[in-house]
Amino acid sequence: MLKFKIKTEVRFSDNAIETLTEFSDVNAVIITDAFMVSSGVSKMIAEKLSACKTVSVFSDVKPDPTIELVSQGVEYLKEHDAEIVIGLGGGSSIDAAKLMVFLYEKVTGKKHIKLIAIPTTSGTGSEVTQFAVVTDTEAGIKYPLVDDKLIPDMAILDPQLVVSAPPSVTADTGMDVITHALEAYLSTRWNDAADALAEKALTIAFKYLPIAYKDGANIKAREKMHSASCLAGMSFNEVGLGINHSIAHALGAKFHIPHGRANAMLLPHVMEFNADLAHNFGASEDTRAARRIARIARRIYLPSENTKVAVTSFIEELKYMQKMMKIPTTLAEAKVSRDEYEAVKEEIIESALKDACTETNPRPVTAKDIEKILSKIAVW
Ligand SMILES: NC(=O)c1ccc[n+]([C@@H]2O[C@H](COP(=O)([O-])OP(=O)(O)OC[C@H]3O[C@@H](n4cnc5c(N)ncnc54)[C@H](O)[C@@H]3O)[C@@H](O)[C@H]2O)c1
Ligand SMILES: [Fe+2]
Repeated sequence: MLKFKIKTEVRFSDNAIETLTEFSDVNAVIITDAFMVSSGVSKMIAEKLSACKTVSVFSDVKPDPTIELVSQGVEYLKEHDAEIVIGLGGGSSIDAAKLMVFLYEKVTGKKHIKLIAIPTTSGTGSEVTQFAVVTDTEAGIKYPLVDDKLIPDMAILDPQLVVSAPPSVTADTGMDVITHALEAYLSTRWNDAADALAEKALTIAFKYLPIAYKDGANIKAREKMHSASCLAGMSFNEVGLGINHSIAHALGAKFHIPHGRANAMLLPHVMEFNADLAHNFGASEDTRAARRIARIARRIYLPSENTKVAVTSFIEELKYMQKMMKIPTTLAEAKVSRDEYEAVKEEIIESALKDACTETNPRPVTAKDIEKILSKIAVW
């Protein structure tokens, strides 16, 4: 049996932020990071919530939230008797808010704390997913946690809030969108609804990411990328991801490479592995993954007279996007030394194999396969 559901009410486009004026007579807590405070965004959000009893701001979130940060946030929610919680920022702030609310409800016995996600990057899709990624600093592992209760009640997608994202953040997070949609589209748990969302996310992202990267103030491109991020989130929320994310989680935990950047660096190599063209050379049937990648290549008007040509041109397009947006292509460019890498290589492979995302990868994967994929970026 297949299933598809969307729990989150999504409000989008220009001025979506006005939705906040509908909340009154509750204690509101905003979970965010220092940038949102220094740029005045959290103050503007607090003003929209002026009909609430109290509005407090927890602004200690750092990229890749840790278990310690989440427990500090739970204490903060308790101190302020939170009734609605607003996760404001990139995936890190939204994931942190999701985990804090989850645990706050558990430890206090409170029910139905309203969780509102306001993304300021177009990337993770966390505003509509049951995933939250937390880092165990001591063990050096990033865990993608999965629970229905982590899904926000409401998502507010206001493109004005993304305009301030610098080109490097736009590039990294935009490649995260493409990776989500592609991995969902190739997932072993695929279904027609998730496919439709992934296909749309991909056609939007390939068209508008380069525009948003080059002209961050282009509000139409920002709005489109916000939609693509949300659609990709809805898609992978239902059908899962794949080994690109498994390896990116492991790399991110060890070397603090921004999540989307780690995904972008791996993506051409993981797509090459999944398509398995070498194995199929001369065979009568292309793999399902290869046929699906070819279908996306056709949708974005790449040369595609047969599956092999389409897959090859798609991988070249990914490499071109990487270069055009100045995304590192090797660990050396990502400022990881050979010694640092060699010291934890086996742990990265082990952690990627165990990652929850590996289960839905279209091609079964061994430690040797992961090592081979890593060798494509382990270049100095
Ligand atoms: N829950 C999910 O479904 C899911 C999916 C993928 C990734 N993730 C997780 O999300 C995190 C990454 O999130 P992210 O890629 O959105 O980055 P992020 O939240 O870590 O933010 C990256 C940087 O961009 C800055 N920033 C954010 N919005 C900005 C804006 N509008 N203007 C200027 N600067 C801005 C932040 O202050 C931060 O310094 C990782 O921990 C990743 O593992 C979660
Ligand atoms: Fe991601």
